[in-house]
Amino acid sequence: MGSKILIVDDEPSASDYLRLLLEQEKFEVRTTANGVEALIALETNPFDLVISDIRMPQMDGLELLTHLQQRWPDLPVIVLTANEGIEDVVQAIHLGALNYLVKPSSAAAVGEAVKKALRFRPSKSVEPPLVSELVGESPAIVDVRHRVVMAARSDVHVIITGDTGTGKELVSRAIHAYSAAAAGPFVAHNCALSPPELFESEFFGHRRGSFTGADRDHSGLLRQADGGVLFLDELETMLAAHQAKLLRVIDDGEVRSVGAEQSQRVSVRFLAATNRDPAIMMQERTLREDLYYRLRGIEIRLPTLSQRLDDIPLLAQHFAGADSAGFTPDALDALMRAEWQGNVRQLRNVVQGAKAAAGEGKVGVAHLSLQSGGRGSHQFGGEGQRARESDGSAPQGSTLREIEYWAIQRALQECGGNRTRAAKMLDIDRSTLRRKLAEFGVT
Ligand SMILES: Nc1ncnc2c1ncn2[C@@H]1O[C@H](COP(=O)(O)OP(=O)(O)OP(=O)(O)O)[C@@H](O)[C@H]1O
Ligand SMILES: [Mg+2]
Repeated sequence: MGSKILIVDDEPSASDYLRLLLEQEKFEVRTTANGVEALIALETNPFDLVISDIRMPQMDGLELLTHLQQRWPDLPVIVLTANEGIEDVVQAIHLGALNYLVKPSSAAAVGEAVKKALRFRPSKSVEPPLVSELVGESPAIVDVRHRVVMAARSDVHVIITGDTGTGKELVSRAIHAYSAAAAGPFVAHNCALSPPELFESEFFGHRRGSFTGADRDHSGLLRQADGGVLFLDELETMLAAHQAKLLRVIDDGEVRSVGAEQSQRVSVRFLAATNRDPAIMMQERTLREDLYYRLRGIEIRLPTLSQRLDDIPLLAQHFAGADSAGFTPDALDALMRAEWQGNVRQLRNVVQGAKAAAGEGKVGVAHLSLQSGGRGSHQFGGEGQRARESDGSAPQGSTLREIEYWAIQRALQECGGNRTRAAKMLDIDRSTLRRKLAEFGVT
């Protein structure tokens, strides 16, 4: 017997369309015209999935969701919306909806969303304080933790914005780790680091021999991320034409390799990060509006460190580690007055360097490599500082990773940014250099 699906929509044409589609797929379907009718149907019959419109007379979708959360918290709900731009969807997700569909949706998009929802098993119960990787108690970061939990419980795509070093990648890894797809892959891709000519091949894969240099089959990012997450970093650098292709995959889940005859279905959740403001990018036409609205099931904006100075002592303790003797009051004070263009990443590096310099003792002001005038000045900090300070030798107390970063920056600087020559100088190949730069989040 097929799964039982309850459709709730006041427009008969909309529910008939869905019913037809779903019955063809052998589901058992019942339609109701509003929230009240839906609740009555649910009281008398078990259902495996609810697909509900949001705007309806009598009891609307949001109110229905509130009731469903109380009575049947594990029942998956997909909401229908007439327009992606509105806030309804965000509210619905907040109230526990798993996903949404825009009316009218293609048969492929409906099928994909329904199958995913039926496979969905609620993740281990996760409350905001449990998202312990995200250190901080300021209201802004507490809100971020709430959104991470919301994102982990639902199955929508997420867009994460924030300056460099504010924790975008950390947030996306946390969403994956707490979600029902945690056992699935987490594939990270930095859009800024791959040449546009390789887009098709990198995302969709290629068959051996499909172009010069394709000496073996390549599965592509979308297949690699099947059943899990594809983290798209620096989304703002993706060409508009490629954004359109990405949007198509998001909607129909079909992937066809370069040189292949057949396409394949994948189920991928997209978490996209950018350090630019999406509203401005859309004005400039560097970000397609349709892609933005498709990705923005939930949007998470990360605060800069200067917007949450009160969290600095907590973060400093966190990065110093449990075995640390702590900080002198002066040192904490200096950290709170410093300027943090490189945000949390920069703070982490300053603290780790200071701890190495302090040894067993407390970290004092003298151990901090902060410039006078209260400006953060660590070489692994803000973009502007990276280039300026990458001469001389690596600072004392650096971790191996930091030394590596330093060596790469210096090589790039000496080669005027030419990656091929920098790679040669470092005696590594170009793809290794590219991968390392990606790890360090350098464009
Ligand atoms: N709230 C936080 N609590 C603890 N550590 C954090 C927090 N935010 C960021 N970090 C740490 O700061 C470093 C930088 O974070 P991350 O790499 O996620 O930043 P990002 O926003 O992706 O930066 P970029 O735009 O430069 O790629 C990481 O080591 C991360 O673990
Ligand atoms: Mg990053």
